[in-house]
Amino acid sequence: MAMKFSIYRYNPEVDDKPYMQDFELEVAAGSDMMVLDALIQLKEQDPTLVFRRSCREGVCGSDGMNINGKNALACITPLSSLKGTIVVRPLPGLPVIRDVVVDMKMFYDQYEKVKPYLQNDEPPPARERLQSPEERAKLDGLYECILCGCCTTSCPSFWWNPEKFVGPAALLQSYRFLADSRDTATSDRLADLDDAYSVYRCRGIMNCVHVCPKGLNPTKAIGETRQLILKQGI
Ligand code: SF4
Ligand code: SF4
Ligand code: FES
Repeated sequence: MAMKFSIYRYNPEVDDKPYMQDFELEVAAGSDMMVLDALIQLKEQDPTLVFRRSCREGVCGSDGMNINGKNALACITPLSSLKGTIVVRPLPGLPVIRDVVVDMKMFYDQYEKVKPYLQNDEPPPARERLQSPEERAKLDGLYECILCGCCTTSCPSFWWNPEKFVGPAALLQSYRFLADSRDTATSDRLADLDDAYSVYRCRGIMNCVHVCPKGLNPTKAIGETRQLILKQGI
């Protein structure tokens, strides 16, 4: 059966403005092809089509794009889950470099801001900093983020304030270290977030939870962070 695609195209070196290009692909009935497989075949039809991908296993986070209106990883989105013409656009809210490839700088700037690494100012033990199984379990649902950007680029608060609102992905990472029993920078981390925008701009719309391909819950992490800020202020 012939499947129809409508794909966002824009090459700033030659195009005055973006446009949507139609493609058709023969796909066997019952096929388990993913959107990324289709894009790779469509690139054979038009080698100028540009997209990012690497692992094709939902691990590297490089092929986040907007598919039929929802941010997702192309490599784990089955064609069979989509209806009608498949419309592929870049992740919203970030500058387009070319076609569905976006400039992730604003996303990574926010990630860098939360200092996403363990900080501990106590003398290192002889072997390693231990955690109890219970302490380690607190990191489940936090450490698995693959930084695909699907959540942050689906968040209206980030669209309006990309330089001031840290966004769901980076706030999840921030909480990953706030929740880590080995990290001693809690006060500094919370002080860095304690302004009108960084964490409080989240409006609880939960687009981020809805799109996360790893099933993570940035909204919950943001709520926990706010609680910690409030407790610290007492
Ligand atoms: S819950 Fe908060 S962070 Fe998540 S999409 Fe909504 S406003 Fe953005
Ligand atoms: S929280 Fe989920 S959607 Fe957001 S960057 Fe991490 S893996 Fe992607
Ligand atoms: S190609 Fe790596 S997550 Fe899709």
